[in-house]
Amino acid sequence: MRIVLVGPPGAGKGTQAVRLAEKLSIPHISTGDLFRANISGQTELGKLAKSYMDAGELVPDEVTIAMAKDRMEQPDAEGGFLLDGFPRNVSQAEALDELLTGESITLDAVLDLEVSEDEVVKRIAGRRICRNDSSHVFHVTYSKPKREGVCDVCGGELYQRDDDHEDTVRKRLEVYHSQTEPIIDYYKAQGLVVTIPALGPVDEITRRALEALKRED
Ligand code: AP5
Ligand code: ZN
Repeated sequence: MRIVLVGPPGAGKGTQAVRLAEKLSIPHISTGDLFRANISGQTELGKLAKSYMDAGELVPDEVTIAMAKDRMEQPDAEGGFLLDGFPRNVSQAEALDELLTGESITLDAVLDLEVSEDEVVKRIAGRRICRNDSSHVFHVTYSKPKREGVCDVCGGELYQRDDDHEDTVRKRLEVYHSQTEPIIDYYKAQGLVVTIPALGPVDEITRRALEALKRED
């Protein structure tokens, strides 16, 4: 299966992507996580990406598309993938279509996680992620780690993302509305969008998404 996950910052894309990818046995490809791994590894790409991420802006298409393409061409993504945070504007969506058409494959669904702005602000304010792997995600009240400040998965230190501070979050929401939301109409025109109400327990949202994907078969 080839799935795209969209939704505002803090909607729970990463949280759901980990679960859905496991259930569907496909790799979870998050451009945000790939950038953060490059930042931790202090690569040139990481240095470039950090300046945009800290400002709440999108990293330029050229480098983002090249990085996503490279990841999608890894052997584990041959049978399918779950894209989280990519595409994030119409030109990235067009580039993805071109890539898939070249391989004679298509997307199966675009899951749109729907959640209010008040809720995403609460989720982002309390989010803590792991230094070792930014897909290990917790929340100080909604998804508490067993030991405060310590990752349940690998024992790594939990910290608050640099782009999770209030002014950057506001900018990220603005960028989401102006640049990312238009891809929902782009994919609606292809009949691919399934809207998933994303308020409620994490497991319940996973169940809704899996149910919706079954209907897409
Ligand atoms: P990215 O890392 O993709 O961030 P984002 O889209 O802003 O999304 P988030 O990671 O903030 O939220 P999420 O929806 O994954 O929520 P989560 O599951 O963590 O991108 C960061 C930056 O990288 C961008 O700003 C940009 O600069 C750059 N970038 C990335 N991709 C790019 C691209 N394609 N092009 C250009 N630039 C790009 O959940 C949030 C919190 O809520 C957690 O604490 C979680 O525990 C909690 N939570 C989750 N579900 C629930 C629930 N049901 N109930 C209660 N709490 C919940
Ligand atoms: Zn961890």
